[in-house]
Amino acid sequence: MTGRDITYKADEYARTKRGAPFRDAVEFHTIFSMIGNPAGLRVLDAGCGDGIYARELINRGATHVLGVDCAEDFIKMAREKNKGYEGKIDYSRAFVQDFHGIGNRDLAVGSYILSYPRNLEEAIAFCQALASHLKPGGRFIGFNNNPFEVFDGERHAQYGFRKVMTGGEEGREVIYWVGGMTNPIVNFYLRPETYERAFREAGFSTFSWQRAMLAPSEAGNPYWNDFFKGEPPLIAMLAEKKS
Ligand SMILES: C[S@@+](CC[C@H](N)C(=O)[O-])C[C@H]1O[C@@H](n2cnc3c(N)ncnc32)[C@H](O)[C@@H]1O
Repeated sequence: MTGRDITYKADEYARTKRGAPFRDAVEFHTIFSMIGNPAGLRVLDAGCGDGIYARELINRGATHVLGVDCAEDFIKMAREKNKGYEGKIDYSRAFVQDFHGIGNRDLAVGSYILSYPRNLEEAIAFCQALASHLKPGGRFIGFNNNPFEVFDGERHAQYGFRKVMTGGEEGREVIYWVGGMTNPIVNFYLRPETYERAFREAGFSTFSWQRAMLAPSEAGNPYWNDFFKGEPPLIAMLAEKKS
């Protein structure tokens, strides 16, 4: 299987990580709350982008991170930012679904990678590749578009991005117009049960959804009321490979 190239630019995307408050208060907070202490872990960062999570994992004590991303400009930027992380982070340019491992990782992290498969078959291929990197009992922690949020139109402009979708048909585009980016991020809608089946068929024994979490420093801030009303736009997932 071969994947599709993305159409947004690495430098523009990387700048958005320092922009809208949801990046730190929700995305970063949720992902690292779920990871816990990564000290001593060997990690795969699937769809690593410029390596922002790979570096933070090493900063928090992970032993080694292998970052994989299909986009040349993201991998180039990740390698440019690797000073001081040599030998601790390695990067490969590949499509995640084609990039199989040798079962030597404790943890795989996927920040926004599982919004790219367009159907069950592709989702299984992504999940099989993720599973191939993990030791028995190894965990996958993902964070991406929330498939429980289904609507027609656009939402969330007050949070620094506009999420545009047209209902819950599988394979439909879910478009994120992120402030500061010229081109949108184009994701694809899959039903929650499609993800659950893909993980199961790929050899994961447990799978659960985790509602996006708000950093305690922001608790009570009314700015977040709409974000967390009903289904938030983003969600996390946790899966464990069979032991
Ligand atoms: C929204 S960015 C997130 C980057 C990074 N994980 C982060 O949170 O900053 C999604 C990344 O996934 C990469 N990507 C998309 N589809 C991919 C695929 N099939 N295989 C590998 N990388 C992919 C893109 O190139 C991009 O860097």
